[in-house]
Amino acid sequence: MKSTLVVWFSFLLFAFVLSVPSIEAYTEPVLDIQGEQLKAGTEYIISSAIWGAGGGDVSATNKTCPDDVIQYSLDLLQGLPVTFSPASSEDDVIRVSTDLNIKFSIKKDCDHSSVWKIQKSSNSEVHWFVTTGGEEGNPGVHTITNWFKIEKAGILGYKLVFCPEDICHCGVLCRDIGIYFENNRGRILSLSDKLSPFLVLFKKVGPLSSSI
Ligand SMILES: *[C@@H]1O[C@H](CO)[C@@H](O)[C@H](O)[C@H]1NC(C)=O
Repeated sequence: MKSTLVVWFSFLLFAFVLSVPSIEAYTEPVLDIQGEQLKAGTEYIISSAIWGAGGGDVSATNKTCPDDVIQYSLDLLQGLPVTFSPASSEDDVIRVSTDLNIKFSIKKDCDHSSVWKIQKSSNSEVHWFVTTGGEEGNPGVHTITNWFKIEKAGILGYKLVFCPEDICHCGVLCRDIGIYFENNRGRILSLSDKLSPFLVLFKKVGPLSSSI
């Protein structure tokens, strides 16, 4: 009698486990300034959500072969387009809180990749800054510096974060990406506790934006 009860109980438990929705449920899509979902492989300009002082697009210290990732201090200069590719390629919609590679879209073959990564800084105030030369794909401990996430921030904006805790359960630090000003390099995207998050919007690159 007792064993029948145990069998019955474990069946119930099994049925319950099966009916629990998957933890991998999709998070909400990231939207561009026109309210359209961001798509993997499509070109976007990352721009400051704040206009005027502190405004400006994301670009690189060299637009031919990008080196470090910077923000222009003027909102008149057009940034360098990027594409996003999720670690899990099950759908092509870019979603909040998912691990992504971010890559500058460039025409030229360069001696290093245009994939974003974080790199240790000699500057003790920022510790890590965002540069290029990363590896695309292959989620794991060896590519841990190459993964970024987009999170909602405030009412109308997003922020970029470094927090690849799903890529490798190896105790990575989670940090917002802010802007650190350096005299010789400009406004560098950096990880720091001391910087406020850089609030961004995404503008799809199309025939209209390239003619402006
Ligand atoms: C930008 O990169 C290209 C290719 O590596 C190089 O030829 C050029 O001199 C660089 N420009 C600047 C301003 O550093």
